Amino acid sequence: MKKVTINTLMKLKEEGRKFASSTAYDASFAQLFEQQEMPVLLVGDSLGMVLQGKPDTLPVTVEDVAYHTRCVRAGSPNSLLMADMPFMSYATPEQACLEAAKLMQAGANMVKLEGGSWLAETVRMLTERAVPVCAHLGLTPQSVNIFGGFKVQGREQEQADQMVKDALELQAAGAQIILLECIPAELAERITKALSVPVIGIGTGNVTDGQILVMHDMFGISANYMPKFSKNFLAETGDMRSAVTKYIEDVESGAFPGPDHTIA
Ligand code: KIV
Repeated sequence: MKKVTINTLMKLKEEGRKFASSTAYDASFAQLFEQQEMPVLLVGDSLGMVLQGKPDTLPVTVEDVAYHTRCVRAGSPNSLLMADMPFMSYATPEQACLEAAKLMQAGANMVKLEGGSWLAETVRMLTERAVPVCAHLGLTPQSVNIFGGFKVQGREQEQADQMVKDALELQAAGAQIILLECIPAELAERITKALSVPVIGIGTGNVTDGQILVMHDMFGISANYMPKFSKNFLAETGDMRSAVTKYIEDVESGAFPGPDHTIA
């Protein structure tokens, strides 16, 4: 696979071509993903749930993410590799810079942070210091205790309008990718059209520029539960390489996520 950069994704967005991405946590799967030409990988703090068996992502540390980032980078030298900044590792802009440096030095190309316009100053500070940022909006799992569960966000008009404003503000602050999780497809489409940077969705319908799945959901092997918007591509294809290829093809053609895997 040719080296993937933010410019690759910008070009795809300009050309109206969709792209797939997946979480990854180790070198072997990272290599398999790279061999099947998955352009973007994320070392998600979902590792707390799918690797560590915890009920949420809050116990994950920067050291955990840095360790798995080193593993994934070893298996996939050419993907655009994002790494999650864990809960409370970016409580202040200064702290965010120091912790993000550890993830960049572990091999990440970009860090991902959860939150709205309150993060703008942090995004600006990171970007000015050469740390590219993906901002995660919608169902931000680190806020599970504020939300009272893993619930769809953005259903109310006021909340939806605020999310559009947040996305624009984060883009203006320097965010190079916006990731949307579990929001109605109509809102995801509104945000995708309003932004010039690529938008990646999970549980948002096929309206965003890119899609992401937690790899354990793609293979139907999650320890906890399978979200309704995910799809077990392994069950459909019978082997892991074909499952990954089918996922990529279905995202690129717009076949996934279809109506059965979309939040109305
Ligand atoms: O941690 C993670 O895996 C994520 C995805 C749900 C996008 O943030």
